[in-house]
Amino acid sequence: MVTRMNPTPTPAPAATAGTATAAPAQGPRHTITPRKPKFAFDQVPRHWFGGSKLGTHISNGVNMLFPQGERFFVRSVNHFLDQIDDPELVAQARGFFGQEGRHASAHDDYNDMLRAQGYRIDRFLAAFTWFGTNVTERLMPPELRLAATAAAEHFTAIMAENAFHKQILSVAHPTMKSLLEWHAAEEIEHKSVAFDVLQRVNPSYALRVAGLAVAASQLAAWWVIGTTMLLVQDRLTLAELREERRLMKLHRKDDEGIAKRVFARGIREYLRRDFHPANNDNFHLAEALLRRAGVTA
Ligand SMILES: [Fe+2]
Ligand SMILES: [Fe+2]
Repeated sequence: MVTRMNPTPTPAPAATAGTATAAPAQGPRHTITPRKPKFAFDQVPRHWFGGSKLGTHISNGVNMLFPQGERFFVRSVNHFLDQIDDPELVAQARGFFGQEGRHASAHDDYNDMLRAQGYRIDRFLAAFTWFGTNVTERLMPPELRLAATAAAEHFTAIMAENAFHKQILSVAHPTMKSLLEWHAAEEIEHKSVAFDVLQRVNPSYALRVAGLAVAASQLAAWWVIGTTMLLVQDRLTLAELREERRLMKLHRKDDEGIAKRVFARGIREYLRRDFHPANNDNFHLAEALLRRAGVTA
């Protein structure tokens, strides 16, 4: 259960000399509880998103990235943990590590499900891992990796909110719906942690924007490549693609694709100088889902 530890927002420290902007206000503090539900992936059909190949592989395309991505987020934040002198934030960071570790582990099982369904994902995942190890982690300084993590967490929080508000998962297989709702709820719970750590380590607006550029470009590129690879393996024809896109728009009841409702919205919000993840108070969505689903630690 989510417990509000300190519902009164308290200000973050002022920006250090030489930085361009004051740090945004800090949001309310929440206890972050790692949970570990079980999922029967062997019951999940290949096209688990309402029978749609396109819907399934758009979701598979981003979910394949999570084991590697979330372990990177943990390393990026953990690198600075001994510089954080706020015990509440340190406790939140440890909860964040526990949640992301469990997400990564559940998504390892998800990737095993894709292999069992006959999808060839290992060359793609090896390329993603190679890039993460040899480019992102080797060439980027720790502060930029932390800034990229904070921005990536904003995108995952938006995806999580969309899953609840837009009822996107209503046609998903029950196992996948449970997995993705649990993950979405915990993403909302811990959405401020990496950002709050970044604000304490270096509240520079330029660094925040650089992290946004890294996160947006890498997420978009690997998501598109992964989705395309799976659609090609399923031999989706152009006519099928057009029809599935039409059906997906009908399902969503709007004309907003991922470029608009995740990337354009995420970038627009994150560029505001006074942005803080907790400004969008949607913790009730996570609380309601976790209570309804009976997911416990
Ligand atoms: Fe996660
Ligand atoms: Fe996360």
